[in-house]
Amino acid sequence: MGRIAVIYDSLTGNTRQMAELVAEGARRLPAMEVSVRGIEDSDAAEIARVADGIALGSPTNLGVMSWRMKRFWDEQMAPHWMSIDGKIGCSFSSAGAWGGGSEITCQALNTILMNFGFLVFGLTDYVGKASSAHYGAIAVREPREEDVRESCRKLGERLSEWVGAFIDRDPALHPLVREPGRKRPGS
Ligand SMILES: Cc1cc2nc3c(=O)[nH]c(=O)nc-3n(C[C@H](O)[C@H](O)[C@H](O)COP(=O)(O)O)c2cc1C
Repeated sequence: MGRIAVIYDSLTGNTRQMAELVAEGARRLPAMEVSVRGIEDSDAAEIARVADGIALGSPTNLGVMSWRMKRFWDEQMAPHWMSIDGKIGCSFSSAGAWGGGSEITCQALNTILMNFGFLVFGLTDYVGKASSAHYGAIAVREPREEDVRESCRKLGERLSEWVGAFIDRDPALHPLVREPGRKRPGS
């Protein structure tokens, strides 16, 4: 059984709502054990020991991640650097506005995951006619619109699929096998 950790920071609850949706998507694969934790309640040693896949979420603050998220990786996770390579990672962020820096924040989160040796991915899938999560799932404030909510779920589902295919080594869980001939909605 693969283990997925959804880890988030959230000051006013918007990124937390995204985290719940990412977890909901990850649970679409019954073979996965999924946990959701705020950064203040997260235990770095447990994450390092247990998680096969990590979805990392932060509000967009001044165009990048929150200082609490950065501090967690600087201080709590740093001792595990060079010993947790090969986990699978992805990211999500809530911002105050479209164009407010949410994708840059996802890229910054992805950069941290890469620095720790994680295998980081984005989605090719479109969850609506003009909506995707190529660099991570993004929302403006709370995830209200159905395509935004589904992009969060899809990110979690894909994380479970990659953990299933590459860590649990079940080829049937590869997304191209689970969903052959998938097409962009509306095309
Ligand atoms: C210190 C601070 C900096 C922020 N910087 C940005 C920003 O650069 N771009 C933006 O779109 N929103 C910005 N926001 C708004 C938050 O990203 C937005 O309200 C988000 O939905 C909050 O998520 P949360 O409820 O998970 O904390 C900022 C908010 C705070 C408190």
